[in-house]
Order: sequence, then structure tokens, then C-alpha cells
Amino acid sequence: MQSSFYDISSSPHFSAIAILCAAICTFPAILSLLLPHFRREKPSATHDPSIPTISHGTIPWVTRSIELMQDPRKFVLKYKKQFGTSFQLSTWGSKIAIVTEPGMLAALEHQCKDLNASRARVDAFRALTGIHDCYRMTHLMGTKVMAVSTKMLSPSGIVKHGTMTSFDEMLTRSFDDLSASLSKAPNGTTCLMLGEFVNFHLFQGSMNSLFGPTFPFECYPDYAILSSSLQIFFSPMANWPFVARSQKASRRRMVEALMRYLDDWWNSGRCGHIDGISPLVHQALVMFKEDNLTLEEAAGSLLISLWGALFNVAAMTYWLTAHMLQDQDLYQRLREEALSTTGYNNPLLESAMQEALRTGAVPPPTRTVACDSEISVDGKSYFFQKGATVISESSGYHFNPEVYLDPETFKADRFVDETAPKPKPWGEGYHFCRGMYLAKLQIKSYMTMVLRRFDLKVVGKQQFVLQRAGLIPDVLGSDTIRIEVSLRS
Ligand code: HEM
Repeated sequence: MQSSFYDISSSPHFSAIAILCAAICTFPAILSLLLPHFRREKPSATHDPSIPTISHGTIPWVTRSIELMQDPRKFVLKYKKQFGTSFQLSTWGSKIAIVTEPGMLAALEHQCKDLNASRARVDAFRALTGIHDCYRMTHLMGTKVMAVSTKMLSPSGIVKHGTMTSFDEMLTRSFDDLSASLSKAPNGTTCLMLGEFVNFHLFQGSMNSLFGPTFPFECYPDYAILSSSLQIFFSPMANWPFVARSQKASRRRMVEALMRYLDDWWNSGRCGHIDGISPLVHQALVMFKEDNLTLEEAAGSLLISLWGALFNVAAMTYWLTAHMLQDQDLYQRLREEALSTTGYNNPLLESAMQEALRTGAVPPPTRTVACDSEISVDGKSYFFQKGATVISESSGYHFNPEVYLDPETFKADRFVDETAPKPKPWGEGYHFCRGMYLAKLQIKSYMTMVLRRFDLKVVGKQQFVLQRAGLIPDVLGSDTIRIEVSLRS
């Protein structure tokens, strides 16, 4: 396993510098256009009496959105204290409404017929695949494929289709390879970034359980670059020439790898089986063919599924491992529990995982309001303006001291008491996470194998700051934790 996949030109910093230079060059022109318009607005004027609007910062339309992007959790907690459960801000001329209580997004969905998830999906599809014309694919994924996922990813579906068996088999093989290389290493250790350690092995298990053994596993380095470049790909600068060129090349190689994976089956003209493929992916492919997608469009759709199945699992596993490495007592207790049992349904691990799900971060569900809408939640009215983007940020709930005592502290035992309210990082309503059961099993399986087989040690600074980086929490790109891995003593 490689310890680093980046050259300088592919580094996020390289692109950040390019973005910064471009922004500095165009900024004065943009300001001169926008400022006169802004001055005509009263700073906190709003057409909406129900949802308070955060006043503009020093630089109109920029300051608050930067604050939100930099640390969404801090942002949400600060303004929730000031304004209550929902508030909005103006950014680049459009409204972003932030809802922080569980139930609000589902209520919006029920009470407002025109709440639209497709813009967020189209943005994600474009960012992840580079395929611009993607309405057909996002529609197909959000309707027919979603109906199949609900069944296949249910607890009984997972057992019936052996989803965890193929995940565990490949994860075991991946750790066997690591063990073999550690036993040959001169001092029996290897050093690498924690994000890579987590992502690489989860990638092997997860891809095997979805796509089977013919999946092009060698595309991992491109996945790693793609998944750590999302902030750039979601930004308005993504399509500028010279921005993120090497990251775009990795993204393209991922699509091409998936096209090669599909090629024989796609062109065979009959609906046979790809060796070891999950019934979920097989059925999705049959639908792609029936809907006359091109091979590239089908590969792009698989890339979206691949990312959806892995990104959040890896982020939460990283978060949990990082907390464990900061607390030697917890590490010891988790290991003793793992060694004294055979499966992975262990109470302390379950509780620590729930605490990671509470304190970790996922890209927040995002919707667009297609027409002016008023909804009522717990007897209170909220008005959402046409065109507003609604972001549902669960940190408002997860860090509410009335729900969780001392919410800022990671308490691994918090959920040993099974009556404690469970974290809610799974979204809600129509788009609720179908992979919730599978994700929890995968995190626990990974943690148990690591605890049973390896010793992990932080190299260098022992106390690191764990903070959420960006709206799309980027584990690989923002990782600062270097670890030493050896076989368990
Ligand atoms: C810790 C891991 C995970 C977390 C925190 C998580 C979180 C979420 C969230 C917040 C949503 C709602 C998105 C929205 O409303 O826009 C969602 C939807 C979904 N997730 Fe997960 N997820 C995880 C793992 C998985 C896995 C492993 C799979 C499948 C293998 C999966 C499949 C799905 C599907 C199919 C949807 C529905 C998407 C839609 O309706 O557009 N998730 N997930």
C-alpha cells in the first residue's frame, strides 16, 4: 500500500493557490458590480418574518458563507444560540436556510410539495463524475434504483444477499496482505496517514461487496484523490481552465476504470452476471441498460453509488479511530472487548460508534424550495422563500446540551445506556439513508479486525485537534494524523 499518492500539482494546496489567485484577480470586478446593489438593501431586512436572517458580514455575500464553509458546526451552534432552530443567510444573491432540528426536513417534505432534492443530486453527479448532462441518471437513481436499494439494504436483505460476508472476506484478505508486509518489514512497522489506513482497507471490502472480485481495485489512488478533491469540484471554480487539472484526470480515470469493469457485460447483449456482483448493483445495471444509458453514463452512476457507499463510512470510522488513539484507556478497553468475543456486536464498541456518529460529520442533506412555502413544526410556522436552498444540519441537535450532557466531549460510554437518544446522522424523510444498517456493521467489522490484529500508535504530536473540515467533511484531504502500524504484540 502506498503511503502517499500526491505529487505537487495534484495537491489540494496547488489548486487552492490557483483558486485564490483567480479569486483575487476577479474579486475587485465582482465587488464593484455587487456593492451598489447591496447598499440598496437594509442589512437585516427580510421578506420573511418567521426565519431570522443573519446580517451580512464585513464583505457582503462572502463573509458568512466562508464562515459556514470553514466550520459548519461552529457556525450552526453560534447562530442557533442567537436565532433558534432555523435561520437563513444571503450568499451570492441567493438564500440559504439552515434547519437544525430533527423532523424539520421531513415536515418540509410533507407540507411543501415542491421541495426538490434533484439540484443537489445533479451538483453531486457533476462534481463526482465530470459528466455535465446528468438529469436522466439522477432521475433514474432517485426513483427506480432507490426502490431496489430499500429492499436490498434492509437488515434481511443484507443477510439474504451475503453483503457482509463478501465485505468481511475482502477486508480479511486486505489485512492479511498488510500482515504479510509487516512481518517482512525490517522493524515490523509501517507509517502512514490514518485517513489512508482507514480508506484503503474499507475500499477493498466495500467494493468487493458491491461489485465483486473483478472490480478494478487498482483504481484506489484515483479514488483517494477524487474523494479529497470534492471541495474544489463542488466550487463554482471547478470548470475554470487550469483548476484542479490532475484531480480531474483522476476523476476521469475512475470513470474509465468503471467503464472497463462493465464493458464485457454491457456489450454482451444478454443479461448475464458479473462474477460476485451484488444483486443491488446487478439490478441497477439492468435498469441502466433498459433506460438506454450509455456505457459512460452507467459507469458514472456506479461511481456515485461507490462514493455514497464508502465516503461516510470511512469518515465515521476515521473519527472513531482518531478518538480511540487519543484515549489509551478507551483503546485498551475496546481491545479487551474485541478479544474476549467472536462477533462484532460488542456494547462498548457499539456505544463508541454511536458517539462517533454523533460527533462526526456528514455532508448535510440539501434541498431547493421550488415555490414560497410555509410549514408548521411543533406549532411553529416557518416560511421558506422560493429558490432558497435548505440545508439540514444535524450538529444543532447532536450538540444540544438539553439532549446530550456535555455535548462537546467525546464520551465513548455515552450510549451504553440504551435509553440515550440515538444520534441522527442518516437524514430523514424520502431520502433517509438506506445503507444505515450496513454502514454500522461495516464500521464495527473494520474496528474489530483492527483491534484484534494490529497495534496503532500516533507518530509525533499526541494531542491533535479534531475538527470538522468543510461542508463536505474531507477525511483524506484534511488528515493530520500520522500513525505507526505493527502486528499486535
Ligand atoms: C456512516 C455511514 C453513512 C452515513 C452517515 C449516511 C448518511 C446519509 C444521509 C445523511 C443521507 C440523506 C441524504 C439526503 O437526504 O440528501 C443518506 C442517504 C442515503 N444513503 Fe447513506 N449514509 C451512510 C452510509 C451509507 C451506505 C453504506 C450506503 C449503501 C451501501 C448508503 C446508501 C444511502 C442511500 C441509498 C441513500 C438515499 C439517497 C437518496 O435518496 O437520494 N449510505 N445517507
